Amino acid sequence: MADLFPDRIVELGTGFWRSKVLLSAVELGVFSTLAQGPLDGETLRARLGIHPRSARDFFDALVALGMLNRDRDRYANIPETDLFLDRAKPSYMGGLVEMLNFRLYGFWGSLTEALRTGQPQNEAKSGGGNLFEALYSDPARLRLFLQAMTGISLGAARAMAQKFPWKQYRTFVDIGAAQGGLPVQIALAHSHLTGGGFDLPVVGPIFEEYVASFGLADRIRFQPGDFFTDPLPQADVLVMGHILHDWDLDEKRMLLHKAHTALDSGGALIVYEAIIDDERRRNAFGLLMSLNMLIETRGGFDYTGADCAGWMREVGFRETSVVHLVGNDSMVVGIK
Ligand SMILES: C[S@@+](CC[C@H](N)C(=O)[O-])C[C@H]1O[C@@H](n2cnc3c(N)ncnc32)[C@H](O)[C@@H]1O
Repeated sequence: MADLFPDRIVELGTGFWRSKVLLSAVELGVFSTLAQGPLDGETLRARLGIHPRSARDFFDALVALGMLNRDRDRYANIPETDLFLDRAKPSYMGGLVEMLNFRLYGFWGSLTEALRTGQPQNEAKSGGGNLFEALYSDPARLRLFLQAMTGISLGAARAMAQKFPWKQYRTFVDIGAAQGGLPVQIALAHSHLTGGGFDLPVVGPIFEEYVASFGLADRIRFQPGDFFTDPLPQADVLVMGHILHDWDLDEKRMLLHKAHTALDSGGALIVYEAIIDDERRRNAFGLLMSLNMLIETRGGFDYTGADCAGWMREVGFRETSVVHLVGNDSMVVGIK
């Protein structure tokens, strides 16, 4: 007993304090402001328009949490916050942080109710629609969500550009492509590929604007459609990122079956997300993502690599493999 301490419990219990400091820092523009150069605390406070009382604690907490550097009284971004959280850079992935701040931070407050009832706790809580019908009825929320998807998938997309044998293929389509974050990264890394993004028609203008900002409009096309009512487009490689986890098991199987039907023999399906380790004890992020699907969807859940490979084989894929991408993300590759 004498060598037991409750510090890990305290740290985990107060974990949302850390998270909210980062979310508010992005909301207030801390990193975008410091991207223009280091500032002393008083100048930074005045630029952000925050009250003097806790400004120093807030900035120093960001230093202690490893998100800012401080040299005497001058604060500066660390390389990661400068690259990924400066709104002026194309590498900005703060859309994810903004969505966490404006939507999920509040919705996760109802986790206990979600666990008791099995019901989503987001915009769909009162209405009958699914996540996307509820989200996409408001243009600002639509854009915020699609930008958040670019943020959450950027690392996996860069890793997939390196770890999949793209040289063997010529065409690819990202199914449920959102803003187009993944097709852009793949096309930037492989100039021989042409491809597209398939998604609901309402997503088209935001996809096209993002792809055009990278000068890729001639190689990456938007393909409007609904994967419940339409066949999937044909390509050498189909990709599904954070798609299967949105839906229940029958819907997952239906989507995998449609992908198998759309591919020619030798074609590949890449499923990627925070694939849970087969023993379901290490990838905490994947397990938390599955709880996030409880908050966000009616039947969605995350799954292990073995689960996904098994479903792929059931619908006819002859070879499957699970490949780690980066951090918590892996891809499951099925070859027809
Ligand atoms: C969770 S997001 C994943 C986005 C992207 N693949 C990624 O991983 O960053 C799910 C995507 O599926 C799209 N989607 C939802 N229902 C759809 C449907 N019925 N047909 C086509 N796309 C759909 C959404 O618009 C959204 O872009």
